Amino acid sequence: MFRRSLLALVAAASLVTASPLEARQQATSTSSATPTSTLASTSTSASSNGSFPTDIGYPGKVKQGLQSPFLVQADKINSTAPNLPQAPAPYESRWSAVDDKNGSFHIFKNLGNTSPYFSSPLFPETQANRILADTCNISQVHILHRHGARFPTSSTTEGAPFFGAYIANVTANGTAINGTGPLTFLNDWQYELGAEILTRIGTQQLFDSGVQHNLLYGKLYNASTQAHKPVVRTTSQSRMLDSARYFTLGFFGWNASEAINLEVILEGDGFNNTLASYDTCNNSNIATVGDTLLRPVWDPIYLKDAIQRLQQYTSLNLTTELVYGMQSLCAYETMAFGYSNFCGLFTKEEWLGFEYDLDLQFQGDYGFMNPTGKAQGIGWAQELLGRLTNNTQISPITTQNSSLLVDPYFPIDQPLYMDFTHDDIIVSVLTALNFTQFADFLDPNNRTEPRNFILSQITPFAARLVFEVIECSNGTANANATQYIRAKIGEAVIPWSADQGCGGQGVVNSTLCPLPDFIRYQQETAVKAASFDQACFGPTPNVTLDTIPRNGTI
Ligand SMILES: *[C@@H]1O[C@H](CO)[C@@H](O)[C@H](O)[C@H]1NC(C)=O
Ligand SMILES: *[C@@H]1O[C@H](CO)[C@@H](O)[C@H](O)[C@H]1NC(C)=O
Ligand SMILES: *[C@@H]1O[C@H](CO)[C@@H](O)[C@H](O)[C@H]1NC(C)=O
Ligand SMILES: *[C@@H]1O[C@H](CO)[C@@H](O)[C@H](O)[C@H]1NC(C)=O
Ligand SMILES: *[C@@H]1O[C@H](CO)[C@@H](O)[C@H](O)[C@H]1NC(C)=O
Ligand SMILES: *[C@@H]1O[C@H](CO)[C@@H](O)[C@H](O)[C@H]1NC(C)=O
Ligand SMILES: *[C@@H]1O[C@H](CO)[C@@H](O)[C@H](O)[C@H]1NC(C)=O
Ligand SMILES: *[C@@H]1O[C@H](CO)[C@@H](O)[C@H](O)[C@H]1NC(C)=O
Ligand SMILES: *[C@@H]1O[C@H](CO)[C@@H](O)[C@H](O)[C@H]1NC(C)=O
Ligand SMILES: *[C@@H]1O[C@H](CO)[C@@H](O)[C@H](O)[C@H]1NC(C)=O
Ligand SMILES: *[C@@H]1O[C@H](CO)[C@@H](O)[C@H](O)[C@H]1NC(C)=O
Ligand SMILES: *[C@@H]1O[C@H](CO)[C@@H](O)[C@H](O)[C@H]1NC(C)=O
Repeated sequence: MFRRSLLALVAAASLVTASPLEARQQATSTSSATPTSTLASTSTSASSNGSFPTDIGYPGKVKQGLQSPFLVQADKINSTAPNLPQAPAPYESRWSAVDDKNGSFHIFKNLGNTSPYFSSPLFPETQANRILADTCNISQVHILHRHGARFPTSSTTEGAPFFGAYIANVTANGTAINGTGPLTFLNDWQYELGAEILTRIGTQQLFDSGVQHNLLYGKLYNASTQAHKPVVRTTSQSRMLDSARYFTLGFFGWNASEAINLEVILEGDGFNNTLASYDTCNNSNIATVGDTLLRPVWDPIYLKDAIQRLQQYTSLNLTTELVYGMQSLCAYETMAFGYSNFCGLFTKEEWLGFEYDLDLQFQGDYGFMNPTGKAQGIGWAQELLGRLTNNTQISPITTQNSSLLVDPYFPIDQPLYMDFTHDDIIVSVLTALNFTQFADFLDPNNRTEPRNFILSQITPFAARLVFEVIECSNGTANANATQYIRAKIGEAVIPWSADQGCGGQGVVNSTLCPLPDFIRYQQETAVKAASFDQACFGPTPNVTLDTIPRNGTI
């Protein structure tokens, strides 16, 4: 799990210095006055020229990598070998699982939320129906977008940073590593990743996505006919702000900052923010089913063989936590430096096990298997309904900041909405809207197959959850068009069901739900089911392996 907020306030004051580049960043990060709340309530808001302020502090931890990439020298995979990199990626992605003879398994599509973006292969059954009839027009789109590839957290309690801290200790106290065979590289390896911020690859993912979304939806943006500049929302955290900037650069061009109003909502403990809702849902920080209950069961199971196999190549005593950290390093080093020797160490089953570990974390901490899963996502779900119904009077307030639900911060007339957020929020929003298509109950003893809850295919880096409003005429002149809604995760169309209010007669091709059906059902059920006050502030739910929720609520 990745609790991104706990240290945010501290971090704003004490940034770790490592390089001249970072020192510059530090200067910028601390230059702004401490805001009392989000941008809306700061009088520094430069509404005179119609722009919102973007330098509001609270960037979270900001730490650059300790080295610059040097792929030309680091990459030891023979470039004249026949199996060329998949996809036009700038990083080394030709590693295969150690037991993958025919190269059919893609490690980088099985790294959970640390996978680089790829189009989701989920719901192949809807693909045949994705072409809209000529009588249909897309009139509005709502994009909830994850940030791009980032460094790991700075906390060394688990994963890649844990392995780094362990090796640093071992090196400092003179313990021999004695790496041989595939672990020879460990003898002079050190942890050189930064923390929390976007990597260069992360910036590319967002720029590319901005370009892609311009191609998909560019016509919905027309500067000359719109009443105001599009408001694009993100949070103050460094990687979130940068993600919005690179995306809008791709979408609107180099002068994006003039074309739009970038609304930067303060992210930090105690500040309401639907794009970072765990900051104000107390129990979400405690009832972490995935981390505290599920992973401790699963990790020793799936890593048993790897520990045994790798142990012969080092005199360090390998543990579940260390070997898990090595898998995680494959993802993070590749996203930061373009190359990682850790990618060559594991079998296909072990990569699938790693992917499943992340599924357990997220389903257990933010999804249908968490008692606050719906509560964590309800804030943005309510905002979606508000935007769909032209209503800024969101009630009850859950994780919204009510001072941002006013003009000009919460416009309801945009054809194009773009919000930037975190992986866990996307999972919680799907839970709040009762997308039971993702409600697989995951067994911590055994990889549940088949399942839709595959985090790699839901929230890789730069993931996107998109809702399109579509108007279709039925072919009769003067007949009113019917409004539909269509949902996509990572470009895959999600087939509707009655659990979202879309099981009625009017549903077309299982992909188009009559908008009024969706709105009516969600208004009647979603807030009630999230049980926000109780879930977030009631007695901390005492969940055990035998009482894990299946419906995202207590
Ligand atoms: C690289 O691949 C080429 C062509 O397969 C081969 O001739 C060469 O020996 C390889 N080099 C190394 C260092 O493996
Ligand atoms: C539903 O799917 C069929 C088959 O792909 C297609 O011909 C039709 O246009 C679709 N209907 C709408 C409203 O998109
Ligand atoms: C590294 O050493 C410090 C100080 O002895 C200790 O607190 C920490 O737990 C060690 N970390 C690891 C990963 O071994
Ligand atoms: C060296 O550090 C490692 C990792 O923290 C620890 O497990 C080991 O006990 C330490 N050895 C000595 C001799 O201090
Ligand atoms: C590790 O390497 C050192 C020399 O660097 C050697 O003295 C020691 O015997 C080796 N230990 C093991 C367990 O191989
Ligand atoms: C590994 O464990 C053995 C047995 O507990 C111990 O003697 C040895 O010092 C450990 N090695 C390291 C590098 O921690
Ligand atoms: C909301 O307002 C837009 C124009 O701003 C209009 O096209 C749309 O029909 C309205 N929707 C509802 C549900 O009132
Ligand atoms: C923040 O959320 C809490 C809990 O829902 C709510 O009581 C409070 O009014 C909200 N604060 C603002 C400024 O909207
Ligand atoms: C795990 O599930 C598979 C497939 O359902 C089954 O064959 C296997 O026996 C199960 N293993 C355990 C340990 O339950
Ligand atoms: C079309 O919608 C308008 C406004 O909602 C309504 O007055 C009219 O009766 C509708 N026409 C048809 C044919 O349904
Ligand atoms: C289209 O809608 C009009 C008005 O609601 C209705 O009279 C007509 O029967 C519909 N046509 C078809 C083909 O469904
Ligand atoms: C969500 O779907 C489940 C499964 O069909 C259903 O039992 C439940 O009532 C639904 N909840 C909401 C809030 O829609």
